[in-house]
Amino acid sequence: MKIAIIGAGNLGLSIAKGILHSNGATTMHLTKRHIDSIKEFEKYGNVTVTSDNSKAVRESDILIFAVQPGHFEAILHEVKDLLTEKHVVISTITGFSIQKIESVIGKDAYIIRSMPNTAISVGKSMTCLCSNTAGAKRIDLAKAIFNRMGHSMEIPESQMQAATVICASGIAFWMRLIRATTQGAIQLGFDAREAQELAMHTCNGAAALLIESGNHPEEEIDRVTTPMGCTIEGLNEMEHQGLSSSLIRGIVASFEKISQIRKG
Ligand SMILES: NC(=O)c1ccc[n+]([C@@H]2O[C@H](COP(=O)([O-])OP(=O)(O)OC[C@H]3O[C@@H](n4cnc5c(N)ncnc54)[C@H](OP(=O)(O)O)[C@@H]3O)[C@@H](O)[C@H]2O)c1
Repeated sequence: MKIAIIGAGNLGLSIAKGILHSNGATTMHLTKRHIDSIKEFEKYGNVTVTSDNSKAVRESDILIFAVQPGHFEAILHEVKDLLTEKHVVISTITGFSIQKIESVIGKDAYIIRSMPNTAISVGKSMTCLCSNTAGAKRIDLAKAIFNRMGHSMEIPESQMQAATVICASGIAFWMRLIRATTQGAIQLGFDAREAQELAMHTCNGAAALLIESGNHPEEEIDRVTTPMGCTIEGLNEMEHQGLSSSLIRGIVASFEKISQIRKG
């Protein structure tokens, strides 16, 4: 695959590293206006670092755009006449609709919108993807790219905002749960570093149990709750204090806020 990352900033470079570390590109072009900070990527023999977006587009098939929203439209105008049917346009730009992209480069272009989260920097992003009608033919290709950096799911574009709450804001929600568990562990006598280690690896293990077994969370809970035991005592106290309810309300509040922001 000949891949170009247009806008090699935080997200663009995380994607680049994920692809390069899994040998996912035959060639890769990395573009930004000020290239000094990314020159080191040329140590990978197949990487070209350039500020010339047109060159990157001409010499690549998969174009991953990772610029700030305010820059995207101008760059699309800059390269639109170079696009051919070999190109797949993958946008990571939050809130920039497929319709808006089509209005510049046309409905026939293969267009895919992606919504990764910050865990992409460690190869563990939950990435949601949607496409225009033409792009549906290339969605499996996009999934294969993002599966190298975690896990991906195709969703309708109308669910992109909801997915932003669950997956992008979700990173912050899970961090708070890990921090709270850490604070509990400190109160039980562990020092801060040990407490965080216990909390984060237990969280990792819980997610892995579900991912690998395909079980429902309650099945795994049943396995660790002895009748009249300490786990159910703790769990029920958390629920009396509103654990599930506060998480659901927080998610809904976050969704209402993102919906207002997008309308405004
Ligand atoms: N960070 C995340 O986890 C995340 C998650 C989901 C979605 N997103 C989306 O991803 C996009 C990028 O976010 P980010 O945090 O990676 O931003 P960032 O670090 O600011 O990166 C954007 C890059 O674009 C480059 N750029 C600006 N104008 C350009 C041009 N004309 N041609 C080529 N490159 C250009 C900038 O470098 P120069 O100034 O040197 O050109 C900069 O390195 C945003 O639209 C955001 O909504 C980010």
